[in-house]
Amino acid sequence: MSDGPGARAPRRVEAPPLSHDAAGGGGTPARSGSEPSAVSAPLHRHPSLGLAFAGSQLRVVGPPGLGLLVDADTVAILALCDGTRDLAALARDLQAAGRWPGLSPVGAQELVRTATARLEAAGAFVGEGPEEPPPSTRGYGHPAIHRHMLRDQARTDAFKRAIEAVVRPGDVVIDVGTGSGALAVFAARAGAARVHAVERTGLAAIAREVAAASGVADRVVVHEGEARDLPPAGVQADVLVSEWLGHMAVTEAMLPAVAAVRDRCLSPDAALIPARVTLWAAPLDDAAFRADGPAYWLTRPYGLELTPLLARELERQATRVERLSPASLLAPAALLYTIDVQHADVAELTFTTTLTFVAERDGTLDGLAGWFVAELAPDVLLDTGPHAPETHWRQTLFPLPPRPLARGARLEVTVECLGPSPDGRWGGPSWRLRVSVGGGAPEVFEYATW
Ligand SMILES: C[S@@+](CC[C@H](N)C(=O)[O-])C[C@H]1O[C@@H](n2cnc3c(N)ncnc32)[C@H](O)[C@@H]1O
Repeated sequence: MSDGPGARAPRRVEAPPLSHDAAGGGGTPARSGSEPSAVSAPLHRHPSLGLAFAGSQLRVVGPPGLGLLVDADTVAILALCDGTRDLAALARDLQAAGRWPGLSPVGAQELVRTATARLEAAGAFVGEGPEEPPPSTRGYGHPAIHRHMLRDQARTDAFKRAIEAVVRPGDVVIDVGTGSGALAVFAARAGAARVHAVERTGLAAIAREVAAASGVADRVVVHEGEARDLPPAGVQADVLVSEWLGHMAVTEAMLPAVAAVRDRCLSPDAALIPARVTLWAAPLDDAAFRADGPAYWLTRPYGLELTPLLARELERQATRVERLSPASLLAPAALLYTIDVQHADVAELTFTTTLTFVAERDGTLDGLAGWFVAELAPDVLLDTGPHAPETHWRQTLFPLPPRPLARGARLEVTVECLGPSPDGRWGGPSWRLRVSVGGGAPEVFEYATW
């Protein structure tokens, strides 16, 4: 088809422009007498932070010596500690997303302050004290995370092959979020006359050195700053490449920045890498996951009746990231959503889809497994599903209280994804699943994305 991935079809001209608040949208909230006034530095979680199940509880792990047990509120707070929010902004954004209804802004900020003080004492953040962490230690400003991504060979090879397939000699290319500069160098080596590489962290200076060391400094221009403002006016590109993909594709909330560059800087027949991203989901039966998850509350440990803790835990959970076996799926995967990168607007990252599955065997429903497939070029797919080679995204799990599912049983799941706010400041989507087995009354489960 003419509008297939990587094809140079004209972009839809009527696509509404993204609204970016020139005054720094999402910044200082309007104040009222009941609002907190404290000022603090933006908090940035350590780049190697992760979550692990410790029996029935969640533990924050990663940096040496860190092994802190945390509750769901703390997980939600950590998910937003990406270096863009201070205490007040964390509390405000979490309440805007529906957390702690009825709690005053002062109370919410106090709650965030207590949780972050504990995390800080345990070493969960980079940077210390009231000073903002230096750029070189902020998340994507740290080389470690780029090593992690570059070592994901399925990912990096797929982008390299797509760039080689799409970039033509003499093209002008924009790389949104160049990080280490790797994709920009691939584009220059593929024959681009000029590559505008945009990076908002201090790693921009290093990407410049990488381009020079790779012998393409004459063709790669690295711009340090926000993609929405860069590259400067007048640049018209033939290709836009960007690795903006998070877990379930949408977690990183970076697509709005890519869309802003797309709408400002692309020539009419320009190509995008990726051009299309599809999200997939399937019901999961996984005994190991079951033994490690909330089902523990049903096992009457020590003769205790602990099921009230199950209800509390299920009120709002975090998604999990796991490598799954295709054999653990109870039914074929269904298409959850399609992001057409040529036209996608930030509003389209909030969506609702109802999926129907029919179990292909007897089993236990432990959750919904999700993943994405990015169409990078007409013949280059980056598939992150359980049947494909492992990537650092692995698969995303939405845990459900386990229940038997007989062969032939019908499972209906309505998936709601609440995506980034129009100004792109929301750190990640939250999800709501309405699950109905065999036509029964739907049960509702909510998740923060890690
Ligand atoms: C997932 S990494 C990809 C890095 C590199 N392109 C690669 O594929 O190895 C995303 C990069 O985009 C940068 N980034 C995220 N949002 C950005 C924005 N709004 N403007 C500029 N850079 C951004 C991050 O700092 C990070 O280095």
